Parts: sequence; C-alpha cells; structure tokens
Amino acid sequence: MLSQEQRDAFQRDGYIVIPDFKPAAAIAQLRQRAAEIVNGFDPGASRSIFTTRDQVKTTDDYFLGSDNTIRCFFEEEAFDQHGQLKQDKALSINKIGHALHDLDPVFERFSREPKLAEVARDLGLSQPQVWQSMYIFKQPGIGGEVGWHQDATFFDTTPITVTTFWFALEDATRDNGCLWVQPGGHRGPLRERFVRHGNDITMQKLDPTPWPGQDSAIALEATAGSLVCFHGLLPHYSAPNRSPVSRHAYTLHATDGTSSYSPDNWIQRGADFPVRGFD
Ligand code: FE2
Repeated sequence: MLSQEQRDAFQRDGYIVIPDFKPAAAIAQLRQRAAEIVNGFDPGASRSIFTTRDQVKTTDDYFLGSDNTIRCFFEEEAFDQHGQLKQDKALSINKIGHALHDLDPVFERFSREPKLAEVARDLGLSQPQVWQSMYIFKQPGIGGEVGWHQDATFFDTTPITVTTFWFALEDATRDNGCLWVQPGGHRGPLRERFVRHGNDITMQKLDPTPWPGQDSAIALEATAGSLVCFHGLLPHYSAPNRSPVSRHAYTLHATDGTSSYSPDNWIQRGADFPVRGFD
C-alpha cells in the first residue's frame, strides 16, 4: 500500500498524509452515525467536558468510564455562565469516545478494512492492537484547542510503538483548527505519561525537554478523505476553531502487540473484551 518513499518519509518526519484514502460515501455514513449518537445522547446525563487544560483535574469518572464504551463530551465553551448550552447540542459536542471501533457497526466498518491493515503493517505494526477511537468535532466558533502533546503519553509501551491514524472527515485548514506537528520531533524523548491507578490519574513527568516553538511547527492541512498517520512520539497540537466551519476528524490509536503495553495506561482490556487489530 505505501511506497518506499512514503515509508522513508514516515521514518524521517514522523508522519505522512495520504490523500483520498476514504471515499465520500464512507465519510458520509460515519458522519451520519455520529450525528445519530449525539442525537440520542441525553445531556442531562452528563455535563462532562473535554479539555486538555489540566487534564488530571478535569478527568472524572465519566471520562474514565468511557474507556471501553461510547460516550459524548462537551466542548469546554459549550455552556454559558448559567450552565445552559450556548448553541444546539449537535454543535456543542467536543468528541465521542473511546470504543466506537469495537462497539458500533458503522464505526467498526470504517475502522477495519484491508487497505488500512496494510498501511499499519507498512508502518511497522506487525500485530496492531487498536485501543481507542475518537470522533472529534472541533465545533464552529467554540472548537477547543488541544495543546502540544505526544500520543505515547496515553499509550505507553516498551518499546514505544503507538501510531495514530487520523482521518479528515472535512477539509482541515489553518482556519478551522488543523493539526500542527513538529517534523522529525518523534526522535525526541517522551515527556510525560498519563498514569491510571483505579480512578486515580496522575501526569508523570519523564523528561524536561520543552515543547517545540511555533517556528518549528508546520500546519498539516488535509482535505476530506485524507488519512494522516503519525508516530506516537511526534509532538502535535491543534488550535481552537474560531471559524464558522466545523473540522470533523476520526482517530484510531494502535500499538504493536509485540511491545509490552503498560498496565498503567488508562485503557485496559480484559479477556471479555479483547483488543483487536485492523482485520
Ligand atoms: Fe494527539
């Protein structure tokens, strides 16, 4: 599936962009299904927001309980000072996570196909294990920023193998909050680790290397249907979306079964719900 040139680029830069990976029909189905899930979500059940600011403090039981289920999270700016939604519920959800790929048939079809399994293999995942899926809305006007981080912080393995598969479901531009990455930054150290013990979360500092400056970041603008793959150590962020256009994306995180998955990672699977690959 991937050319030698693409594989070399991934090794060198820590990411690749594959345009036109998903057809418009597949994207339309996924968007439709996400809209149905949000429509069926009762906001009375939870006002849980998702923010990457002070993630230890804002991680609550609702979040931790979403590890192997399907739950909706609000944008941090979804509510006014009286606790009322500022815009329609469908325009207030930050993301749906985190086991869509295993629990929802439409998401499962999108997440598992031979072409994707080939890409994963070509990137070096010999026994892919897909731990997490997220549908990210990056809503118009209030789409939250996601600060600099490395995905290996949340999926620690020895050695580090976590790879991110990021599908653009709409055109992602500088205006609506596309990804920004530090090319080659995956050769740097893992800076922190998100550790779970029961319902106790800590962010463990591992390395003092600062996050990259804006001068070494590049914008990964991607057209709808593109697949962006990046290395778990690649520093990346996305800006808030102040534009009138949403920036929907869908992500999968996979590690290699040949590496050892930390028992401290926040998502664990038991024999009753085994982790699976892309087949
Ligand atoms: Fe990330």
